[in-house]
Amino acid sequence: MRIERVLLNWSCLSISVIWAIILQNGQLRLNAYPGQAPLIPHAAGNSLWRHYAPSAPEISYQGRWDNQYISSPGLRLEFTGHQLALSFGQHTDPGVLIAYRLGRLDWQFSNVTGNSTYQFIGPWTPGINGSIASEKKSFELRGESCTVQISGVAVAADGKLSQIQRASKTVEVIGDSLSIGQYATYEGLSSWAYAVGAGLQDVEYSITAYSGICVHDRECWGNHHGQVYQWYRTCDSSPRARRIYGANPPRWDFGAHAAADLVIINLGANDDLNGVSSTDLVSSYITLIDGVHSVWPDAHIVIMSLWGDFVQRGLTFVQAPQGVREITTVYQHYRDQGKGYVHFFETSGIFKHGDIAQDGHLNDMGNAKLASHLMQWISSQFGWTMDTDGAEILHGTQYWNTEGNY
Ligand SMILES: *[C@@H]1O[C@H](CO)[C@@H](O)[C@H](O)[C@H]1NC(C)=O
Ligand SMILES: *[C@@H]1O[C@H](CO)[C@@H](O)[C@H](O)[C@H]1NC(C)=O
Ligand SMILES: *[C@@H]1O[C@H](CO)[C@@H](O)[C@H](O)[C@H]1NC(C)=O
Repeated sequence: MRIERVLLNWSCLSISVIWAIILQNGQLRLNAYPGQAPLIPHAAGNSLWRHYAPSAPEISYQGRWDNQYISSPGLRLEFTGHQLALSFGQHTDPGVLIAYRLGRLDWQFSNVTGNSTYQFIGPWTPGINGSIASEKKSFELRGESCTVQISGVAVAADGKLSQIQRASKTVEVIGDSLSIGQYATYEGLSSWAYAVGAGLQDVEYSITAYSGICVHDRECWGNHHGQVYQWYRTCDSSPRARRIYGANPPRWDFGAHAAADLVIINLGANDDLNGVSSTDLVSSYITLIDGVHSVWPDAHIVIMSLWGDFVQRGLTFVQAPQGVREITTVYQHYRDQGKGYVHFFETSGIFKHGDIAQDGHLNDMGNAKLASHLMQWISSQFGWTMDTDGAEILHGTQYWNTEGNY
């Protein structure tokens, strides 16, 4: 079966540019990111604020970050008082969009630029007036990985930060653009990987996924290395990370962070498109799984089939999945040796051609469908539960069909 060319070739750095506009069926969504956190002078020494360095242990970064606090796609913390501000360092992309929220209320949006401080929580913040100043409130921020550098946090002069209580289980997703919500409405905040991590009960999650990356260690769409190398590093694979660290980015200290209990891998789509041979893809995929298993010997590792894209055949559409033989071979390698820690999640049948945004990337519906099926499968396979909390996970999904009467 011939597959239409799937292009997964955006570099990490270009994502924020795409994120700035939302196209809906070719039309610009007006006021796509309502809200703008006010810029405030960075007042180190200003007595109205108590300042914390980005290294403060009270700040819990999510995902990977380097020693300059670049690239973590999210952070969480608790604070007292009625105000909170974050400062962004010079390695922040200009005008990059971020989502944030007070407690578990709905996501709000703002764009931010480097060398600046923004006040995210103030008297205008929904929910703040009803809260008691001395009470601990949680704050959460999410952006695209590779786009922001945190250079400080500030709270009211009589307020303080404290650490969030970590969930007891951890999920790690290792992927490429198919896992970061590329081309979906709010990118990372619309991705299946985020929806699975945020939708399971008592779970912390980390998404180590870079647009265009291969499994095999070679250059693919601007990534100088494959995940078989990059997964062990602190930083992303963007040109910016390369400017900072050169060819040898620092290693991620697995020992300093909680071990993952569940690892979900969605990789191989870019190898296929970059001419990595079938043999190299299989052997690198096995090397990656063996590496993950040696880092986290107790983790269940799930490998996913690649859905590819849909092509018209006569009067219908048929799915043209990628890497079927290779991924099956990888799974069989473990199954035949009785290594039960490797599991296979079949995506065939979940999607129809209307669930693809472009070039094999899922649209919002496709991401939501995959997350729902995968969470249900994880629950039945491993006995995990879905979170019954009612807080918003996928933002902006009520855009269509909100009419009460027709
Ligand atoms: C931020 O400051 C640094 C050094 O002070 C400077 O090199 C850089 O151009 C500034 N970036 C922005 C976006 O203003
Ligand atoms: C940032 O937000 C402001 C206010 O909403 C808007 O005027 C501006 O165009 C935005 N900039 C970018 C780069 O999205
Ligand atoms: C909170 O109270 C202040 C002072 O009364 C008011 O100006 C502000 O609009 C209120 N905030 C919200 C989100 O309602």
